[in-house]
Amino acid sequence: MGRCKYPESEAEQMADFGENPDQGKFWNEEPGLSWVENDRLMSERLESISQLLLENLDLRPHGRILDIGCGGGGTTLALAKRAPPSAQITGLDISKPLLDLAAQKCADHENINFVLADAQAHRFGLQKFDTVISRFGVMFFENPVKAFQNIKSALTVEGRLHFVCWAPLEENEFFYAPLQAALQHTDQLFIAPGRAPGPLAFSDAAYLRSLLEEAGFQQIEIAKTTTRVTTKDSPEEDAKLLMQISLATRIMTLAEMGEAERAEVFRSMLAQSAARQKDDKISYDATVYIVAARA
Ligand SMILES: C[S@@+](CC[C@H](N)C(=O)[O-])C[C@H]1O[C@@H](n2cnc3c(N)ncnc32)[C@H](O)[C@@H]1O
Repeated sequence: MGRCKYPESEAEQMADFGENPDQGKFWNEEPGLSWVENDRLMSERLESISQLLLENLDLRPHGRILDIGCGGGGTTLALAKRAPPSAQITGLDISKPLLDLAAQKCADHENINFVLADAQAHRFGLQKFDTVISRFGVMFFENPVKAFQNIKSALTVEGRLHFVCWAPLEENEFFYAPLQAALQHTDQLFIAPGRAPGPLAFSDAAYLRSLLEEAGFQQIEIAKTTTRVTTKDSPEEDAKLLMQISLATRIMTLAEMGEAERAEVFRSMLAQSAARQKDDKISYDATVYIVAARA
């Protein structure tokens, strides 16, 4: 273990799924392990979105910053590189395997610590945060108003919340391209997940605004932005990733696809990844909301 702080005792290491047991199970089992395995690939793809989230943050000396749903710690580390060295940074996540990876990645940073907890139910201490950020880590709450109220309780009076979440499916090639590749090979219907906890839960901006208002946030800004999710990986690597982390993964599970059908889906994904490759880069349009609010 490096210099960053992480719970060591067995009791502290026990996963606390709080009020989100389904998400706790999801992110500590196979899907969470897939994110660990594919951390480098996802980090590269989400780099442009990190830039959008982090570029305008006002990070002050001695400030306290919280990264909610920090996953493998990519944004936590990026924060440490941007913030003054006197800043204190906490990464919080419900997934132990992802936090283990984050702790490894941030091992050289004394000013980073990690908390294994459900952000909706966690009792934040008396020391408040000046800034809370999240890259795609706040759309998984059973009760989003309660979760945002809890996050607000962790902020100082003037504290700021900044996060990024996905806009609608049809504006995100990164979601619908692999989905279509899977749907070609099954009668399984895709049922839009609506507002259920998941990556697209906040894709209706008016609904998202109403949640933040109900939780008591002020000066809410929701900016819709289109960028590109880009990789220098080969089409084979891209298709392999999308087989494991995409809406296609869920369709293949629901359709109980066997090896032969999955191989067909893989071939379709490979073809579409190859068709997108230009100048050694594969890219997908991605539309997100960049959200900012005051406590
Ligand atoms: C899509 S991943 C994003 C991870 C990371 N922020 C990134 O951009 O690479 C969502 C993250 O939210 C975490 N998460 C989901 N529900 C949570 C909850 N109730 N409390 C804390 N973290 C949660 C997951 O474990 C996962 O790491």
